Amino acid sequence: MSAVVVAVLNRKGGAGKTSLTKDLGFALADAGVRVLQVGLDPQSSLEVLAGLGFDTPPDRTVSRLLVPEEFGDPGQLERVVHETRWGTWLIPASKALASAERALGEPGRGGPSQRLKRGLQRLAAGERFDVVLIDCPPGMTPLTMNALVAADRVLVPTQLDFLSVAGLAVLTETVEEVREYENPQLGYLGIVGCQVEGRTRHAREIHAQLEQLFGRTAGGALCRATIRHSTRVRDAHAAGLAVGQLDPGHPVSADYRALAAELADRAGLELGAEVAR
Ligand SMILES: Nc1ncnc2c1ncn2[C@@H]1O[C@H](COP(=O)(O)OP(=O)(O)OP(=O)(O)O)[C@@H](O)[C@H]1O
Ligand SMILES: [Mg+2]
Repeated sequence: MSAVVVAVLNRKGGAGKTSLTKDLGFALADAGVRVLQVGLDPQSSLEVLAGLGFDTPPDRTVSRLLVPEEFGDPGQLERVVHETRWGTWLIPASKALASAERALGEPGRGGPSQRLKRGLQRLAAGERFDVVLIDCPPGMTPLTMNALVAADRVLVPTQLDFLSVAGLAVLTETVEEVREYENPQLGYLGIVGCQVEGRTRHAREIHAQLEQLFGRTAGGALCRATIRHSTRVRDAHAAGLAVGQLDPGHPVSADYRALAAELADRAGLELGAEVAR
């Protein structure tokens, strides 16, 4: 079976893309799924959490997949894949990704939005992993386009407040455009409420609004599971671990496990029996 490639996407900064990539990645890996994470944000947040920092040598980063012509022959391509402390593999971003991004925008560069897809093919990522989670940068850049062309599915973390939900309308238009011109197979894996503060009336209203928005355009993509707001998520970031490792009994860790089970079901992935409850 070929891996499901997932772009974790929201144009809005701070929506929870990187946290979701890390902690959902752990929850899936812990359930026996082979997870490859791809850092596609020059801010390198995921890489900081993974203890790699900003300065991984560029030939060991995602830049090598995007602009192979800049690297000559620096040895095995395999060297771009690093092991994480949370049971997944990671192709990291680094500071150098900013210049790769500029190169993709230059006129005359071939296949500027196909490059991540091709790079993952060269690595045979589809055969070696079950899921590929791409941590996208905020905004809509050539890097994001590469993620959307490489992906089978889009996973959208969003806060459940008025402005965040309003912003999603623009995001759905972008996904529609990519589907029309670049990647007709692209669909939604899910829209997931993150940093959810209790069950307030406002949150319920927003949830209903989302159901309307995505019920129409994305076939009920809204996830039943939500990720609550918890300081333990930040504690886990500081410890360089997934929250499910730092505090497996905490309710927010259970949220990630429930989300992993729901998304695995949608994506047709098998989970280890004791976690799939
Ligand atoms: N469930 C949560 N509870 C509490 N804080 C959270 C939770 N999820 C994320 N955060 C915090 O919210 C902030 C933004 O999260 P994150 O970096 O994952 O968002 P992002 O969408 O990747 O941001 P960017 O657009 O800058 O890449 C971080 O400080 C993170 O620790
Ligand atoms: Mg991020």
